[in-house]
Amino acid sequence: MINMTNFSDRELLHYITCDDADEMADLFAEARQVRQRHYEKDVYFRGLVEFTNYCQNDCLYCGLRRSNTAIGRYRLNREEILDCCRVGDSLGFKTFVLQGGEDPFYTDDMLESIVRAIRVEFPDHAITLSIGERTQESYRRLFSAGANRYLLRHETANEAHYKKMHPPSMSLANRKACLFALKKMGYQTGAGFMTGSPFQTPQCLLEDLRFLQELQPEMVGIGPFIPQSDTPFASYPQGSLNLTLRMVALTRLLLPNSLIPATTALGTIDPQGRELGLMAGANVVMPNLSPQEKRKLYALYDNKICTGDEAAECIRCMRLRITSFGFVPNMGRGDYRK
Ligand code: 5AD
Ligand code: FES
Repeated sequence: MINMTNFSDRELLHYITCDDADEMADLFAEARQVRQRHYEKDVYFRGLVEFTNYCQNDCLYCGLRRSNTAIGRYRLNREEILDCCRVGDSLGFKTFVLQGGEDPFYTDDMLESIVRAIRVEFPDHAITLSIGERTQESYRRLFSAGANRYLLRHETANEAHYKKMHPPSMSLANRKACLFALKKMGYQTGAGFMTGSPFQTPQCLLEDLRFLQELQPEMVGIGPFIPQSDTPFASYPQGSLNLTLRMVALTRLLLPNSLIPATTALGTIDPQGRELGLMAGANVVMPNLSPQEKRKLYALYDNKICTGDEAAECIRCMRLRITSFGFVPNMGRGDYRK
């Protein structure tokens, strides 16, 4: 039995670096139990709409970075975004996640009108935004327009590490300020980080966990770093499956009621990555509702899965995978449980 209430730094570092198969199995079993106590065997579905792959930032790991001239860029307009939501609704989704690069083309007025339109047409659905760092005023307006949740991974909680992965124009301080502001405004807030990113050390991961404890986000996205061939980090190795699973499990133990996705990146580095993520304490999946012809352009990293499938096909496939591991697909809103 793992004592999960008061992990010391030493204990956390032990599990962060642990490569003993039995100990890992115990850790995952414990995480599964904790998740089951709060969310039973349910796995929540979120419909992901990747509505713009333009980005003003230049994160060194990301394929959408503005210096990448090798990708074709696209934007969806309000009607196209609404159409994705309509398809999602007809497939049974009760949560829409609008994700994009940091794209100033979408002004506060435009985003407000998009969120309002979704809110009017789907009064009972959850609207999640994942559009990067914006002003507090902007966050406030979008919340008033009807957004309920916001995903903004902190990427790394270590100052020196953050600097090595981002251009000088970006700062960890602002990232954190955005997260605290979102939470305070009433958004269910998601933070998160990559595992195995270039220059990451076990100490960085420890700081990630401590930051999560401090912020107490409702959601935490964790996926392996995967090199993207048109970025400065193209030749760095990808993050490992087991490290990612250990971080998912530790996050579940430290934040027992959190909503943790089995990420697409995890499914990309291993054919059973997402299922193993669920077995290590994750309880959310995010099938893609973006128009099929745009999917491959949303190239955060190489070899991203599910870029060729129709949304309906993705859901069918995910349902099968989830039930075959003994979990229960849940299309409800899946709000955070206190
Ligand atoms: N590998 C894995 N994940 C990545 N992301 C961006 N680039 C990569 C990459 N090369 C993640 C970031 C971001 C999220 C949308 O995708 O953590 O927050
Ligand atoms: Fe998309 Fe399997 S989840 S095809």
